[in-house]
Amino acid sequence: MADLQAIVDSVYYDLSDRIGEGKLADYIPELATVDPKQFGIALVTVDGQTHAAGDTETAFSIQSISKVFTLTLALGKIGDGLWKRVGREPSGNAFNSIVQLEQEKGKPRNPFINAGAIAVADVVLAGHLPKEAIGEIVQFIRHLADDESIAIDQNVARSETQTGYRNVALANFMKAFRNLDHPVEHVLGVYFHHCAIAMSCRQLAHAGLYLASAGRNPLNGGSVVSASRARRINALMLMCGHYDGSGDFAYRVGLPGKSGVGGGILATAPGKASIAVWSPGLNEVGNSQLGSAALELLAQRTGWSVFGQ
Ligand code: DON
Repeated sequence: MADLQAIVDSVYYDLSDRIGEGKLADYIPELATVDPKQFGIALVTVDGQTHAAGDTETAFSIQSISKVFTLTLALGKIGDGLWKRVGREPSGNAFNSIVQLEQEKGKPRNPFINAGAIAVADVVLAGHLPKEAIGEIVQFIRHLADDESIAIDQNVARSETQTGYRNVALANFMKAFRNLDHPVEHVLGVYFHHCAIAMSCRQLAHAGLYLASAGRNPLNGGSVVSASRARRINALMLMCGHYDGSGDFAYRVGLPGKSGVGGGILATAPGKASIAVWSPGLNEVGNSQLGSAALELLAQRTGWSVFGQ
């Protein structure tokens, strides 16, 4: 058995002179105020061991990583009915692109591009007021991470509410195609707030453990989803989790992963571990530059890959 702590330490050490690389997401003004010189790696194995290096206790804006959790909730509510509303194909486009949405009559390509996640938020909202739906999402993530301290960063939520013009456009477009049941402002309220949830690498790796462990949380034995659903969520992460960078991420890392513009990435090594990395600087397609590099090195050094050794 490889010494995982030594591998995590070596990945951190080998990349430490690159801390600060990449560009902050400044289209959400609050995210541009984050110190770019931060970098953390946390890994939780399916038997409950945590290995960490760097800034793994600092909470950051999980942004699009939250879409994995809202997808899990929406599938729990309406199961395969979700696929009438959202597709399961990689988009090959930017996360906030509107182009395909017109061609494909308001049905987003997948649940991880912004339009798809907005449709998922509409599903989670059914039967609730927006603040109840937001509460349900936060509560679900606290349960997964076994940590009641996880909360929304209200400054980030406000900042995105004030400047999220593209998301307003995407939501209105889907509403025009009758792919949103609720008022646009309510759906976006849910979406902006779940994107603004703040978590540390350690909390995030812990929350993602069900994806590495056949749908169960091995730390408390509880079942989160069925094994087949966990497998399918991982498939979507692999194909769509990095937007138009998904092919490159699969090629370099070979693990399902979901990125966020806060600079975090949650990755799954099925049967082995859940891994969260964070460094705020992004590459040209909006994924953490150092985080991607860290996962590439980690996958090489552990031999973990969904494609074999
Ligand atoms: O809607 C947005 O633009 C952000 N709340 C989330 C985008 C995001 O994290 C894309 N990921 N790399």
